[in-house]
Amino acid sequence: MKLKSLFVSAAIAASMPMMAWNGSVLISTPNTSMLLHADEGSDLRFAYYGERIDESEIHQIHDAWDGLNQAAYPAFGEKVHELTALQVVHADGNMSLELTVQGVETHDAGDAVETVITLADDVYPFTVDLHYRAYKDVDVIESWATYKHNEKKDVVLQRFDSFQMPIRQGDVWISHLYGSWAAETSVATEPLQPGIKVISNIDGSRNGHLSHPDVMISLDGKPQENQGRVYGAVLCWSGNFKLRFQTEYRNVHKFFIGMNDEASEYRLAKGEVFETPKVALTYTAKGLSGASRNYHRWARKHGMVYGSDKPHDVLLNSWEGVYFDVFEPKMDEMMRDFAAIGGEMFVMDDGWFGTKYKRNNDKGALGDWIVDTTKLPNGIQGLVNTADKYGLKFGIWVEPEATNVESVLYEKHPDWALNVKGRNQHYGRGGGQMLLDLCNPKVQDFIYNMVDTLLTNYPGIAYIKWDANVELKNYGSSYLPAYKQSHIYIDYHRGLVNVLERIRAKHPDVVIQACGGGGGRVSYGVMPYFDEFWVSDNTDALQRIFIQWGTSYFYPANAMAQHVSASPNHQTGRVVPLKFRFDVAMSGRLGMEMQPGSMTDAEREYAKKTIGEYKEILRPIVQQGNLYRLVSPYDDKGYASLMYTNDDASRAIVFAYKMKHFNNMLVPRLRLDGLDASKTYEFRELSVPVGENPSHLNGKRIKGAILMNTGFEIPLDREYSSRVYELVAID
Ligand code: DGJ
Repeated sequence: MKLKSLFVSAAIAASMPMMAWNGSVLISTPNTSMLLHADEGSDLRFAYYGERIDESEIHQIHDAWDGLNQAAYPAFGEKVHELTALQVVHADGNMSLELTVQGVETHDAGDAVETVITLADDVYPFTVDLHYRAYKDVDVIESWATYKHNEKKDVVLQRFDSFQMPIRQGDVWISHLYGSWAAETSVATEPLQPGIKVISNIDGSRNGHLSHPDVMISLDGKPQENQGRVYGAVLCWSGNFKLRFQTEYRNVHKFFIGMNDEASEYRLAKGEVFETPKVALTYTAKGLSGASRNYHRWARKHGMVYGSDKPHDVLLNSWEGVYFDVFEPKMDEMMRDFAAIGGEMFVMDDGWFGTKYKRNNDKGALGDWIVDTTKLPNGIQGLVNTADKYGLKFGIWVEPEATNVESVLYEKHPDWALNVKGRNQHYGRGGGQMLLDLCNPKVQDFIYNMVDTLLTNYPGIAYIKWDANVELKNYGSSYLPAYKQSHIYIDYHRGLVNVLERIRAKHPDVVIQACGGGGGRVSYGVMPYFDEFWVSDNTDALQRIFIQWGTSYFYPANAMAQHVSASPNHQTGRVVPLKFRFDVAMSGRLGMEMQPGSMTDAEREYAKKTIGEYKEILRPIVQQGNLYRLVSPYDDKGYASLMYTNDDASRAIVFAYKMKHFNNMLVPRLRLDGLDASKTYEFRELSVPVGENPSHLNGKRIKGAILMNTGFEIPLDREYSSRVYELVAID
């Protein structure tokens, strides 16, 4: 194919009107470029995604590989024998689409440059806009599609992926997250093999327990943390999703990502616009950790709009300390004890509400958001005042999207719960929990008003933990008409976003945590509205190393809520030292979830000192810094290690955890990353237990090059021993 000389660089084009188009479309971030080929009247071709190139190199990309043969957004009808990103049934029953390029438009979108490529069918009035938003300050390109038509009746959308990309075959591996409640975000690493690999979710309400719509694609064989070329893709959607990798006897894998089409046919009315969720793509040659750093930076700057650059408070959550027994004197005691060791915020978890039906267990009262004065005689304001007395901020738990059979809300509005006409309800947690029908605007208003009233009546509430403990079990909406019942999976989440947008517009400064019965809501779909995630209900420090490792592939440290809990641990029964529990929790947003009063005097003294170090020394670097995962817990080397640097690498925090211990076992030296090779760093050991001495490294001065090339022996001499060092460049 003869290459046209006309091209557009999204990085430089300021503003151009929609125009007929022939040639290459170059979309660039500071260090990456994506290249598409768009000839007016022809189908759109995907040519390249990788290191940044400039316009003069476009022809070299084409010369090096005939990428022009690859469809950028295949639709059913053009190629019926291949997987496609889009499939529709037209108003007249015809199932074909043949999309060709109509025009390309590029405009400045503030912190990004947005390119829109318009495709249309030349027989049916059906149009697809493909959007590419390339950030100017971080290596992320967001891509999504919008559809509209002008046919006489509804067009049925049967498949609606956000993005498709051909990936040159070779030794290509994928890394993705899977798990279950209390064992979330295990890392699965596997080579792409012939056939179709599908990663999907059908929970309906949360999409982070069993699998995640987030993937790393390593192009140079088995994934490595700090080297090798990697693509990342995360779907910004809180509902069901589907990722597909097709591998056949040809030179590319085909990668599709979008909302799950399962039971989700969508009827699109004439003139209505259907927008797919955004996919955030990244590319790096610096391994998995490099891709993670790109996502963390993007999330902090552009993804988590609210409170991303504020330091996140050290908080005590009441759940594992008292569970449902949130009686006022106990709350007072916990606040007093937490304030005494330097805590900043107290969060009262489940159990505080319910009048006719009590919330003494998980069987009732969801939806009845009225304080239980038998537990809390002075109400919420009484608790806010107590927190204030101790110099703490106050936070509260809610689960707005759910109700119980035993609730006044359900008695009044049984039709507000999702339900299948003519069938018995299926219940979740506690044997009586159901999801409300967020497709219904009245339900959306109820949830918005409940949260708004709480925050308006009690301006002292600084934090909300927004929980979601039940999957979508009853696939039926009393609100949606019969012919739109298949919209439930999609409209539920659009309803949720509508509520969250309104809450955030009115209450931008409240910190809100997304919790989904543990890590079920760790998702870029809700991130614009939440400041952090509850990563897992499993607070066992050893298992948390794995859970947090996986979560950090895509999500930044300031969004990862990590709590020190009691020993023996309530979920696993494991007994580990308080220091180990702190050292694991301090690698993200530190909190506690236990009775602080149950610690010994020495432990309390240690906790106070360490919380002080976290606030002053660790927090700025961990919560805003650059993550380098160093020794993986999955590699079974006896220990795991990770570190953070600040932007000019003048300071770093290094964490190391002994996970298995046998006498004289051989463990590898720890080699750091991300430092300035030419600088000398001084070690300072933090989190040292009262009465113990720091290790021999304390005060040592070693050059960055030595720390990164040769490494050093890490003193971990017992099972569950751990070390935290601050490194400061001294020259
Ligand atoms: C599930 C959450 O993950 C826990 O942290 C706690 O908030 C409980 N729900 C309360 O019911």
